[in-house]
Amino acid sequence: MNFPEKLFACWHPVAYSKEVAKDKPYGTFLLEQAIVIWRSTAGGVHAMRDLCIHRGTALSLGWIKDDCLVCPYHAWQYDTKGACVFIPQAPAAKIPAKAKTPTYHCRERYGLIWVALKDPAYPLPEIPKLEDDNWKVVQTGPFEWKSDASRQVENFTDFGHFPWVHPGLLGDPERPVVPDYKVTRNGAILSYSVVRPEAQNSAEFPVFANSDVVKPERRSNYKLHLPYSIVLNLGWGGEKGMVYFFVSQPISPNKCRGYCIIGRNYDKDEPDTVLQNFEQVIFDQDKRVVESQRPEQVPFDFAEELHLKFDAVAMNYRRAMKAEGLSY
Ligand code: FES
Ligand SMILES: [Fe+2]
Repeated sequence: MNFPEKLFACWHPVAYSKEVAKDKPYGTFLLEQAIVIWRSTAGGVHAMRDLCIHRGTALSLGWIKDDCLVCPYHAWQYDTKGACVFIPQAPAAKIPAKAKTPTYHCRERYGLIWVALKDPAYPLPEIPKLEDDNWKVVQTGPFEWKSDASRQVENFTDFGHFPWVHPGLLGDPERPVVPDYKVTRNGAILSYSVVRPEAQNSAEFPVFANSDVVKPERRSNYKLHLPYSIVLNLGWGGEKGMVYFFVSQPISPNKCRGYCIIGRNYDKDEPDTVLQNFEQVIFDQDKRVVESQRPEQVPFDFAEELHLKFDAVAMNYRRAMKAEGLSY
């Protein structure tokens, strides 16, 4: 696939921090590029092309030694800059200049490992609540879907489906009307707020702070950071609030992996599994529908689908992705 250059110049999540062990490389794909993530002793994370120059073996199958990544086939050693610094079969010979593998920008924040394949064009979103000790943070997923990251993130922004795909959990089929809202764009960030009907907290998943209201309404404030992240601050009019940070890893044009990190300033003693199991149910309900969408990628041409007024987020997403050079 010919992805636009700009997509390579964005930070993308590639794993939860906890998925990358101290002593073991981790292989994944980003925009169809095989990459390996590994940690050096100082704790730094490194990202490289997951390919040994010698015979094309995946370095992620290897191991870590002396702050180097060692190829599993003939044990050539690569340092944190991607240069091959030791060849056991010819220890005295000069190492050819070609003996290296490309490295990428790599950092760790919000419990995720982020990679940018080219110099990043945008900063990571700032989400102070996720770094505030008064907020309890729970990592849910990851959610691997057979769809493009654009479809997965668009599903997260969509209000119209709640009563139908998540009845009794996020929406109420008796109250399906989407209230009016306005989308504003500031460069690569779309903002919108909505007060919408929601379902009563369910007995099985008591995750929301709306239990004492008969017809609860949720106040949601969204910031959609192009291309595939969204920060949702929500509440019910009182002190209690939640923040959702959802971001999708574009693996290929029909494969993605979503990370959903949730912060709350209430029910901090509730076991993490309650929210994790709840989100697993929600994301599975969505997955079935989104994986059936054709094409697997959001079509950025308006004429290809039918948009109504309440689809303003979807329309603005298409427009903004195009304007920022991120659509394909
Ligand atoms: S293939 Fe990597 S060292 Fe030979
Ligand atoms: Fe959904």
